[in-house]
Amino acid sequence: MIIDDAKNMQKHLVELREDFHRHPEISCQEKTTAARVVKELQDIGGYEISENVYGYGILAEIKGPKEGKTIALRADMDALQIVEETGLPFVSENHGVMHACGHDCHMTVLLGAARLLQERQAEICGTVRLIFQPAEENNPTGGAQGMIAAGALEGVDAIFGMHVWPDLPVGAIGMKAGPIMAASDHFSITMHGKSCHAAQPDAGIDTVVAGAQFVTAIQTVVSRNVSPLKAAVITIGSFYAGSRYNILAEECVIEGTCRTYELSVRKLVEERLRKILDGICTGMGTTYDLKYDHGYMATINDPAMAAYFTKTVETTLGKNAAVTVEAPSMCSEDFAYYLMEKPGAFGWLGVGNRECANYPLHSSKLCVDEEALWQGAATLAAVALNFK
Ligand code: NI
Repeated sequence: MIIDDAKNMQKHLVELREDFHRHPEISCQEKTTAARVVKELQDIGGYEISENVYGYGILAEIKGPKEGKTIALRADMDALQIVEETGLPFVSENHGVMHACGHDCHMTVLLGAARLLQERQAEICGTVRLIFQPAEENNPTGGAQGMIAAGALEGVDAIFGMHVWPDLPVGAIGMKAGPIMAASDHFSITMHGKSCHAAQPDAGIDTVVAGAQFVTAIQTVVSRNVSPLKAAVITIGSFYAGSRYNILAEECVIEGTCRTYELSVRKLVEERLRKILDGICTGMGTTYDLKYDHGYMATINDPAMAAYFTKTVETTLGKNAAVTVEAPSMCSEDFAYYLMEKPGAFGWLGVGNRECANYPLHSSKLCVDEEALWQGAATLAAVALNFK
């Protein structure tokens, strides 16, 4: 049974994960990470390995004796510029960099699946291609697009992947048909006015007042323009203006992010933001520069592939392990780009532990329950093996 073999390799998976965790590398610098992945693949054997695909990306392929489809499994490799505060015995040795998004687990899970598949090579129909992708955190030019351009999806019939999920308890694997992760856009606005003495406001143009009106007015995009049945978030995360209490602020800089699932909503939000900004600045007499950057697209799961994934989880780990995700996340993922090219699905691997506080992804205290490692490995291996 795949589940028994996966459990038996748990000790090895924990060692592997803790090794990755100790040596995190940021986007586009995953050199020792890639070397560690390759070493493990070579130890496993049976894989044809291509290194240095779009930077430090790796493709590894294993073929079965029988003809069949090509299925791709993907893990991302990069870490974040965060000072780790977990206090774990395997804390990051690369100070200021941390695997705070669980990509150390993603690589480990995929390598675990690689071993399970190699041990079952005789059962593979067709080809399994493993994609170790760098630079996932490099929004908007993430590694997925680079790996695709380098041919990672050539001949692929379907693709699957998973992200560790602290909100799901360990033992649960989440899936959802349709949107599961959001599109993420970033905007930066600089308003220009005219500075003058605070006692003589008629002599200047106040960017604090204009900026504040923009912050208030932009709230109506979600409440008044987007359908109540569709989802969108606009958050202004920073607002800087002025130098002194008794001087009108000449400049104001406002930055924020827009998160959406549907392309039509995404376009609407941007269009309304531009119009509101332009209208307020015209009315207030300020000028402005707007930088609106399109980040990752929304990650949209193919319904049939999502159903196949869930069924595989049920038959591999048991009925209770398969969890239907009710609401998608407003976080974003460049797995979106694979799903724009090929059918597939992206799931959530429960790593929440009831005994310790569950910190969110990108937290300096993120702590995952390592029991999820064998569960994830068994799931991905079964997803590849059962695909017909
Ligand atoms: Ni991530």
